Parts: sequence; structure tokens; C-alpha cells
Amino acid sequence: MKRILFLGDIVGRAGREAVQERIGRIRKETGADLVIANGENAAGGAGITGEIARQLHEAGVDGITLGDHCWDQRGFDKAIDQLPFVCRPVNLLPGCPGAPRLILTHGDFRLAVLTVLGQQLIKIPTRPGFPMMEDLLEDLRGKAEAIFVEMHAETTSEKVAMGWYLDGRVAAVIGTHTHMPTADLRRLPRGTAYLSDAGMCGPYDSVLGREVAPILGRFLDGMPRRFTVAEDNVQLWGVLIDIEPGKRGCVAAETFREGID
Ligand SMILES: [Fe+2]
Ligand SMILES: [Fe+2]
Repeated sequence: MKRILFLGDIVGRAGREAVQERIGRIRKETGADLVIANGENAAGGAGITGEIARQLHEAGVDGITLGDHCWDQRGFDKAIDQLPFVCRPVNLLPGCPGAPRLILTHGDFRLAVLTVLGQQLIKIPTRPGFPMMEDLLEDLRGKAEAIFVEMHAETTSEKVAMGWYLDGRVAAVIGTHTHMPTADLRRLPRGTAYLSDAGMCGPYDSVLGREVAPILGRFLDGMPRRFTVAEDNVQLWGVLIDIEPGKRGCVAAETFREGID
């Protein structure tokens, strides 16, 4: 059996320092064989840098995924191709840099990891993810014992639909991007773990990781403001997935959370 820990969007300095400091202990306590984390908000709440990606990797994050914020940090489009443990969403336009997926290994077990960007309310250019999946799964045949799909989308309907579409064909379809953990973790009928949103690794005394006051002000008077990244009440949220190579889907899935009073 192999145990995968997936952590939701790491937000800001507070979020990434918490992951870096705790991931070694968390790996031991959970028995995770592989750790994946979404790093799209790790640098100042928007994007990631090569240096931050390396720090997370050295601390114990085996694979780093991204989302609609993947190019927010200047120079990351150049840096990403030197980072073999980072993948950008699979359905960005074909000419963009970065690996479209990862193959992580633990012993002779190979886990393919890919992020699909939703299209509803997502502002960066993408190709529709659903029609790409057949070819992507076909391409992975014989290259991995299991597949982990992250569904990085704004609307729950798109995430749920992807869960049903891939049920029994991948180990898990786990949602990210909305930063708030949802309560619907389950194994679908054919064994795929599904969750609408893993939640973020970041400051929960916030609005999705940003200070409350400026966001609230914006809702009250509509005036633009600087949305500072928050720091308080850091919690780490994610999912633990148990995979039995050779069995379809996964054998168990449970919520991971840490730092809750
Ligand atoms: Fe995010
Ligand atoms: Fe996002």
C-alpha cells in the first residue's frame, strides 16, 4: 500500500513556512510515502518563485502543482523548466513552458500527478480540460501505477463532473483553488477519491488568505485596495489517499488537517 498526502494551496509566507517547518514531522506521523502540494499562492499570495519551490521541495514536498496563478511571479516562466518536481496545469495553451504533469516515484511505485484548470470563471487562457482526458490517460498507460488528478476550478459543478468522469480510472480527483475545505470527501462507486476543495495551507483568519479589512472595505464601498496577505491562524489542509497498486481507484481517503485549535 502507498499513502499519498496532498496539501491544498500554500498561501503566503505564513503558509509556506508552516509547511516547511512541519512537513518532516507530518510525513512521519501520517506515514505518507509521497507528498504533493499546490504552490500557486506560495509567493506573496500570488504565484511561486524558483527559490520558494526549491525550499519546499528540500523540506519534503515531492511534487508541486500550480493553478491559474502559475505565472504571477516574474521570471517563473524561465525558472520552471529547471524544476523537475513542479508541473503547471495540463490544459494551458500548448506553447507555454513547464511540465504538464509529474511522475513521482516511491520504490517501484510510480504516481502520475496532473492538474486540470477549470474554465468557468477562470481568467487565464486554457484549453477545455474534459476532452483532453482520454488522450492523457491513454498516454499514461504503462508509465504509472496510479494517477492523481487535481481539479483546480472555481465552480463546484466542474469539479464534481470531473470526479464522475474519472471515477475508477484515477486514484483521486481533488479540488483546489477556492481555498476553503469542503466536507464532501468520499470514494465514488468505482473507488476514486473525490473532494471539491482540499482547503488551503495558510492563514484562516482571512478571506481566502487575504487580510479581512481591505476585502470587506471593497465589498462595502467598491473602491480598489491593496489586498495584503494575512498571517494569523495558519492551518494546513489536505487529503491522505491510500493506494493499492493494481486495484482501481484508491482503497481509502481521509481529510488531513493540522494546526486547528
Ligand atoms: Fe489558490
Ligand atoms: Fe487558483
